[in-house]
Amino acid sequence: MKKLIVANWKMNPSSVSEAKRLFDATHAASRGLKSVETVICLPFPYLTGLEAARNRGLSLGGQDVFWENKGTYTGEVSPTMLKGLGVEWVIIGHSERRQFFGETDEMTSMKIRAAIKAGLKVIFCVGETLQERRLGKTTQVLRRQLKEGLKKVLKPTAQKGKVSNRLVIAYEPIWAIGSGVSETPESVDVAAAFIQKTLGWQARILYGGSVSSKNIANYLAMSRINGALVGGASLRAKEFSRILEIAERSK
Ligand code: PGA
Repeated sequence: MKKLIVANWKMNPSSVSEAKRLFDATHAASRGLKSVETVICLPFPYLTGLEAARNRGLSLGGQDVFWENKGTYTGEVSPTMLKGLGVEWVIIGHSERRQFFGETDEMTSMKIRAAIKAGLKVIFCVGETLQERRLGKTTQVLRRQLKEGLKKVLKPTAQKGKVSNRLVIAYEPIWAIGSGVSETPESVDVAAAFIQKTLGWQARILYGGSVSSKNIANYLAMSRINGALVGGASLRAKEFSRILEIAERSK
C-alpha cells in the first residue's frame, strides 16, 4: 500500500497568488512519486481556483465539512459540494475544530457519516491533550474519540467494510501540533496498535504533530504508521518536497 502524505495548510497562505505558487511547487514535487500518495487539504476558497491544476499524483482535500448536503446553514460547506469540485478527501475532527469551534464527538460522527455517504475519503483526527497524557488518560481519550466519532458509521456493522476502505485515522497528540516537539515514533506505533485494536481492523494510521524532513523517515520506519498529516512544514515548499522525497525512498 502507498504511503499517504497529507498537507494541511490550515488557514494559510493569506493570498491567492501565494497559494498558487505553493500549490504549483507541491504539485511538481508530488509528480512521478510511485510509493507515495500526496493529498493537499486547502482552505475552501482555494479549492475552486486550484482545482484546474489537479493532476494524477496529487489529490485534493477539504479541512472540514458539514453533515447536511444543503440547507439553511450559513457559512457551511457540504460533502456533495466538495465532491462536485473533484475533492476526494476531507479532514474531520481536527483538534483545532474541537478546540476553537466547539466540535464534539457527536458532530464529528455526523460529519464522518455524511462525508462517507457522499463518497469522500475521511482523515479522522484523534489525540490527547498534554494534561490528559500527564494523567495517563491517552488510551481512554482515544477509545472515546474513536467509539463516539465512528458510532454513526459503524452501526449497523454491515457498513464496516465500506467504512474501513474510506477511513484513515490521524493520530495527533495535541501538544505536538505546531509545537516543534513531536511524539516518539515508538509511542506513535503503540498508539496505532491501540487504535487498530479498538477498531477491530488494520486501519491506515497517519501521525501528525510537528512532522518535518528531519523526523519523517523515523515515523515511516514503524510498521503501523502509513503516513503523516503535515501542518507547518507543508507551507514551506522546499521542506515539503523534501518530506515527499524521503517518504518515497522509505521502506
Ligand atoms: P503541524 O500540524 O505539522 O504544524 O504540527 C499538524 C496538524 O495540525 O495537522
